[in-house]
Amino acid sequence: MSDAKIRILGLSGEYRPTSKSGMMVNHALEYARSKGADVTFWDCNEKPLPFVGEDGCWDNANVKEFQALASESDAFLVCSPEYHGTMSGVMKNTFDWLYDKHVGGKAFGLMSTLGGIQNANTLNHMRIMLRWLHAWPVPEQLSVGHVKDAFDDDGQFTDPKTVERLHGLVDSVLQSAVMLNSRDE
Ligand SMILES: Cc1cc2nc3c(=O)[nH]c(=O)nc-3n(C[C@H](O)[C@H](O)[C@H](O)COP(=O)(O)O)c2cc1C
Repeated sequence: MSDAKIRILGLSGEYRPTSKSGMMVNHALEYARSKGADVTFWDCNEKPLPFVGEDGCWDNANVKEFQALASESDAFLVCSPEYHGTMSGVMKNTFDWLYDKHVGGKAFGLMSTLGGIQNANTLNHMRIMLRWLHAWPVPEQLSVGHVKDAFDDDGQFTDPKTVERLHGLVDSVLQSAVMLNSRDE
């Protein structure tokens, strides 16, 4: 088995790393980095992805960079806010720029944030969608309800159980990425 570092790309269904979903992804990436992974966060505010189908989108430089980065990545950590019972439009459009050739056979860790009560709608919808991309979402997942109370003023989680679940999710993604990579060797 190769000793190469696992490369993880973080995707958020909200603009900016300071949004709640951006914070979730960056906490997950930070933990993955502490476990030896190479991590990158795609910030849609800094490098917006056009809507699929809009004028000029097929030659967009951000899209080309995003797809190349996804192709080079071994695994993905993703968090979407729940909007009207499902993932945000930003999240769906981000996924719509990805195809089997970029993410097929690769591990995904799924998270969601909600203003209201925690549920699994957005997680389940992302899980179904990933089937069409031939990707491998791990069984562990994390939904954070009442998300405005989930972080303290320093941006740290207020509930140690959230940290425990987040670490379990990332550990599973890292283990799955190693297993899935070893199939190609
Ligand atoms: C258009 C829109 C729809 C939303 N729909 C839901 C919803 O169906 N359920 C829910 O719990 N929260 C809902 N929310 C709240 C978001 O889930 C919440 O804003 C998000 O998790 C991120 O938090 P932040 O806005 O503080 O970054 C909605 C927010 C917006 C803007």
